[in-house]
Amino acid sequence: MGHSVFIHRCLELAEQGRGRVGTNPLVGAVLVREGKILAEAFHEGFGKAHAERRLLENFDQKISSDDVLYVNLEPCCHLGKTPACTDIIRERGVKHVVFGMVDPDPLVSGKGIACLLKAGIRVTGPVARTRCEWLNRGFISLRTQGRPWVTLRSARTKDRAIARPDGSPLKITSGEQDRWTHQWLRGQHDAILVGVQTVITDDPQLTTRFGLAVPSPLRIVLDPHFRIPPASRVASGALASGTWVIATFGSDPGKRKALEERGVRIAEVPLMGGQFDFPSLWRLLTTPAGHFHGIASVLVEGGAKTWQSFRDAGVMDAEVILTGR
Ligand SMILES: NC(=O)c1ccc[n+]([C@@H]2O[C@H](COP(=O)([O-])OP(=O)(O)OC[C@H]3O[C@@H](n4cnc5c(N)ncnc54)[C@H](OP(=O)(O)O)[C@@H]3O)[C@@H](O)[C@H]2O)c1
Repeated sequence: MGHSVFIHRCLELAEQGRGRVGTNPLVGAVLVREGKILAEAFHEGFGKAHAERRLLENFDQKISSDDVLYVNLEPCCHLGKTPACTDIIRERGVKHVVFGMVDPDPLVSGKGIACLLKAGIRVTGPVARTRCEWLNRGFISLRTQGRPWVTLRSARTKDRAIARPDGSPLKITSGEQDRWTHQWLRGQHDAILVGVQTVITDDPQLTTRFGLAVPSPLRIVLDPHFRIPPASRVASGALASGTWVIATFGSDPGKRKALEERGVRIAEVPLMGGQFDFPSLWRLLTTPAGHFHGIASVLVEGGAKTWQSFRDAGVMDAEVILTGR
């Protein structure tokens, strides 16, 4: 059986960490003997053990010289929040490692492979690199661009309208398109971002629904003048605690207190030429603090002014346009 089958299994396992790893990568690992999987693990959460370390710590049998360890990301060779994975690979006597992609961080890239080779361990890879890099596009963006991966998503009618002429909401997409959006866009980003006018006009929930077993991303509302209606759905009930309103300094303290008591987080970011300063916004969203572990990807759901502000700043990695009736 080819190596890529087992790297693809690593990717399936890695996906289970989505919504929990914060600014860390999504990583899965499998140990294979004579074509059969003996043990599996994935990186379960920010600050927790890396996938390959977890697998090797929990695997209580002897590792034979023919066993192969598969992992979708090059094992680390540095001391971070957890000990170096290359150490436990060597200590447990693994003799062959197959990896999916090198670490994108220019400071550590290739060092894990070099550590393994130096220890006399056979190293094969990258295997299924494109697929591995796509899964960790958020992590790659953090390490190479210093900001999350950004996808713009819009829906328009065949004659290119995104709303009614009076600005009122217009149902454009089909149920099938909505389900696809929830599973493959909302369910695969760490945050959904909208401009405040969309909250005022559409009062969206910004959750993943349709009975899908994917985590709901963080909700972010860009609201420099603190216009968010206190009764809006993203600021009410169970949704409130997963919503961040990005405002400016000195926002109405009474309204602020009322929203914060419900669990809404109000964060201040300075304006530059009337727009939020993107570097400050990224610093806020990618710096772990307390229970917040940072985000690696954002789905920008609109409306037009918000999409334009991302385009103007050149902050866009992918764009999805759904065409409806
Ligand atoms: N078809 C679709 O896919 C789709 C999706 C979403 C919404 N919509 C429709 O779009 C319409 C709303 O769109 P819109 O363009 O009027 O408004 P919007 O993009 O929802 O919100 C724009 C406002 O958000 C704030 N904002 C956005 N980006 C910012 C940035 N980078 N920095 C600082 N502030 C920022 C500003 O607030 P201030 O005005 O307070 O400065 C701005 O005026 C609604 O009719 C809605 O139904 C359609």
